[in-house]
Amino acid sequence: MGVEYIVITIIAVLGFTTLVITVLRHTHTLVIDEVRILVPNASELHGLQILHISDLHISSPHTWPLKALDCIQSIKPDIIAITGDLTTSPEMLDCTVKAIGRLTARLGIFVSLGNHDHWQRSRLQHLLGLTGRFVHPKQIENKMEKRAIETLVNGSVLVNGANGNFYVAGLDDPYLGLDNYDKTYEMIKSDHPVILLSHSPDAIADVSSHRCDLMLSGHTHGGQIRIPMLHGRTFTNTKMVLPRPYGLMVLNGTPVHVSAGIGTSSELPLRFNCPPRATILNIVDPRVETI
Ligand SMILES: [Fe+2]
Repeated sequence: MGVEYIVITIIAVLGFTTLVITVLRHTHTLVIDEVRILVPNASELHGLQILHISDLHISSPHTWPLKALDCIQSIKPDIIAITGDLTTSPEMLDCTVKAIGRLTARLGIFVSLGNHDHWQRSRLQHLLGLTGRFVHPKQIENKMEKRAIETLVNGSVLVNGANGNFYVAGLDDPYLGLDNYDKTYEMIKSDHPVILLSHSPDAIADVSSHRCDLMLSGHTHGGQIRIPMLHGRTFTNTKMVLPRPYGLMVLNGTPVHVSAGIGTSSELPLRFNCPPRATILNIVDPRVETI
């Protein structure tokens, strides 16, 4: 065996080990970031603090997002917004709801549903690449309701904030075509600002005449696997070409925050160069701040 062969083998083993350690670290290290969002013409939202999380994908054996939820328990925002894909295994729904119920927010915890909240699969179905049974959102709503968590399935609620009333609205999953703007806005009668939760940011294309001061979305996982030098080609699983795979952006003139999510898809339970994120959003009305 030549010296060159030994050197190449050592370099390959070290390189592979480093890659495995990096991927495991990037998959299981939660980043908590804080973002300031300028939302014009919505003084009622000024000073509001939202903890935005998304895409937990809690499943067996991928239970790490439960630990991530424990890590953010100490954050006590005004609102917690969770934009879908809660679990990937039906048997994990109870512990997922329990973990969300341990979080605290002064004005409430609000949840919208994602595609995986509808087509949950068993382990066997996953291995066979089959779509699972269709889980009625009512099952999720009922379990959430017992812990005073508001699930918004094409619906809205009026919230009494420190600077005035505003609505939190939630579309059902746009990826499966279940979003219904008319039903979502049915109860919105007065001219208060609207924070809209939608699993996929694609729903912004249909906002048209409805008031939406801020949209919160997930679904993209921030790309999940982000190869350096190829960021422009990050897969977001959206119809719309987003300016970036996650973070704050303006789409169709509306401020949108797309969460990079906490969990992973079950087909590829890894993250690279795109760690799990929970984001604290601090809303500022530029008009109020300059007074
Ligand atoms: Fe997801």
